[in-house]
Amino acid sequence: MAEIPILTIDGPSGSGKGTVAARVAEVLGWHLLDSGALYRLTGYAAHKAGVDLADPAAVAPTARNLQVNFGDGKIFLDGEDVSLAIRTETAGNNASKVAAVPEVRAALLDWQRDYAKAAGLVADGRDMGTVVFPRAKAKIFLDASAEERARRRYKQLKDKGIDVNLSGLIAEIEERDHRDRNRSVAPLVPAEDALVIDSTDMNVDTVVERVLQAVHEVYPETRTA
Ligand code: DC
Repeated sequence: MAEIPILTIDGPSGSGKGTVAARVAEVLGWHLLDSGALYRLTGYAAHKAGVDLADPAAVAPTARNLQVNFGDGKIFLDGEDVSLAIRTETAGNNASKVAAVPEVRAALLDWQRDYAKAAGLVADGRDMGTVVFPRAKAKIFLDASAEERARRRYKQLKDKGIDVNLSGLIAEIEERDHRDRNRSVAPLVPAEDALVIDSTDMNVDTVVERVLQAVHEVYPETRTA
């Protein structure tokens, strides 16, 4: 079977990975894996069930038994539309907590790998290039300063009419980064063969261009896309 082309985009929260991954997938006509959504769903389901988010015996079965449906750009958990609910800062923090449990990561592994289908896959997350798709030929690590990431998040939330406080956001982002970077399993680090892009002073169009260039170099057949 022909090898499926894969681009991994890893990086901390607010680095712009989600936007860049979606744009690049659209240009290339490839599938998109938003792996953070799977951790967010697990965190949401565990929180709703009232279980301890750090207890492997409680959260691993939650991850294994998630009843998720995607449709019309929405995400349903047990039939409930949770598209917006899983995007809040609290949901992100709960996701980061369950994501530190090795059994949860193991439970989500095959599900993530199943996204690799023709014509190709753009995989967005924290450990896409290091653990889930280590053999991907195109790997990006997208970074930006914590202040800039908090500012972007602040603007996104304000635009949605959600009232937030910037210094509180910076503190939350730093707390989440610390947990994601220092956990014992699949910590947030660039893969050795990843191209690191610091987007602090770059706009989205420029980042998308750089990422596409990197893809074209290793997968020349995508140049016409
Ligand atoms: O990308 P995001 O903000 O939706 O991710 C939410 C949390 O899920 C993040 O803080 C850490 C965790 N996560 C992870 O551990 N591994 C991934 N591949 C994706 C997300």
